[in-house]
Amino acid sequence: MGKTHIFADRNLKIGDIDENIYGSFLEHLGRAVYEGIYEPGHPAADKDGFREDVIDLIRELGVPIVRYPGGNFVSGYDWKDGIGKKSERGKRLDLAWASIEPNEFGTDEFMAWCKKAGVSPMLAVNMGTGTPKDALELLEYCNHPSGTYFSDLRRKNASEKPYGVKYWCIGNEMDGSWQICGLDAEAYGKKAMQTMRMLRWADAKKAGEADALKLIVCGSCNCEMPTYPEWDRIVLENTYEEADYLSMHRYYEYKTSNKNPLEDFLGSAEDMGEFIDVIRSTINYVRAKKRSSHRVYVSFDEWNIWRQSAERTEPNWVRAPHILEDKYTFRDMLVFGGLMNTLLTHCDIVKAACLAQLVNVIAPIMTEKGGAAIRQTTFYPFKYVSQNGRGETIRTISTSGKFDNMYGSARLINEAVTHNAEKREVNVFLCNYAQSAQDIELELRSFGDLTCKARVEIANNDLDAANTFACPDAVLPRQLDPVSVFSGSKAEVRLSPMSWNYLRFGY
Ligand code: AHR
Repeated sequence: MGKTHIFADRNLKIGDIDENIYGSFLEHLGRAVYEGIYEPGHPAADKDGFREDVIDLIRELGVPIVRYPGGNFVSGYDWKDGIGKKSERGKRLDLAWASIEPNEFGTDEFMAWCKKAGVSPMLAVNMGTGTPKDALELLEYCNHPSGTYFSDLRRKNASEKPYGVKYWCIGNEMDGSWQICGLDAEAYGKKAMQTMRMLRWADAKKAGEADALKLIVCGSCNCEMPTYPEWDRIVLENTYEEADYLSMHRYYEYKTSNKNPLEDFLGSAEDMGEFIDVIRSTINYVRAKKRSSHRVYVSFDEWNIWRQSAERTEPNWVRAPHILEDKYTFRDMLVFGGLMNTLLTHCDIVKAACLAQLVNVIAPIMTEKGGAAIRQTTFYPFKYVSQNGRGETIRTISTSGKFDNMYGSARLINEAVTHNAEKREVNVFLCNYAQSAQDIELELRSFGDLTCKARVEIANNDLDAANTFACPDAVLPRQLDPVSVFSGSKAEVRLSPMSWNYLRFGY
């Protein structure tokens, strides 16, 4: 294959990047909370039991917002079980993950943890066993200043000041047959609308007003659902004027049983882009049908790579079981980098996103009980993109070759280019999905004279390489010499076979 030309012009902007696309997710699932972020007695835990070594890694990732407490868990969760004196909180069956929920960590602990970790909360309310009233009471507990039953209860339990939670997910994956008390689209849409109205009345601000709540309704939990995309249309038709976001979820898996497993897996980023495009069209359709000027955006609040076909080996009905503890390979990292590029190149519609999840459960950070916390392979692209992919995304034109896969065809060189006007930086993220080195000519126009300031590569000969507690540095980013820029805006770079790459230019 010859040289790939990638062209971008400062004036051809896709959209502003909302920093909340670098959000993540913590569910009461496996060891995400217990033994993940919360482990009283651990040498790195503070007086509240929050692991500071884990918080340091979360800060390094650059996560601004964290969704909580689920996930499937939330559809059976009574938030009132998790407040008040810990000694008086009862244990409960968690039907979503066949585990025991000890309720040692609940809303107040999460809020205290968010403050310490420097992240904003995104709370999900229970639309399964829960009622609109339960959701309203949680809002009153969290956000009302004082003088009511639940606000005074919060003041007594944990915090004089209200928490001011802005982002609220109205349920989780309510289209899933696995969802506790799942609903059909019409029923969910109506319940979500009633709930949102109550939350808006309690907040006393209308949708879209400054500082108003940001409400997220459940979209299809993936594009393979038989109800997709009708679910999305019907839900939106029932909720449009009160919803700020429609949620999207999508997980990808390396399936060795496929005829061309590698190609299919490497095609994930393009598939994610098509999924977003269909949802964008669905939102636009409903907006037009309603003759509405209100804009609904996408909250891609669960995305990742997940070996969903792996069988559970842990017993049921235990506290903090070792489940969904995927070990991410170098191959996974390559696909993950492409998924991040897709979020960036759709930043005009995707205004929030949560990497699912954050610690121990399909996560970039793994912990040992009483021991270390390590960075998985996927930690690194997330960190570089989150830290540097701020500002706006610029449209690209590429001559990249393509490869066929189960979704159609995909680019061998998957790219995203972002511009940070404040820092006078252009950031380029490139995945080379070819098994050979690739020469790229970048042309980044209308920025004036550019200088390459940094170049980072993640490359490895072994697609199965992974970071483990025994060998936490098997896959690491490498700083390379910056490339030289010619004619003010052009640079040539050779990408290693199957590699993730980052280049920073200044002007
Ligand atoms: O993130 C793991 C699970 O995936 C979540 O609980 C659920 O929402 C999704 O199916």
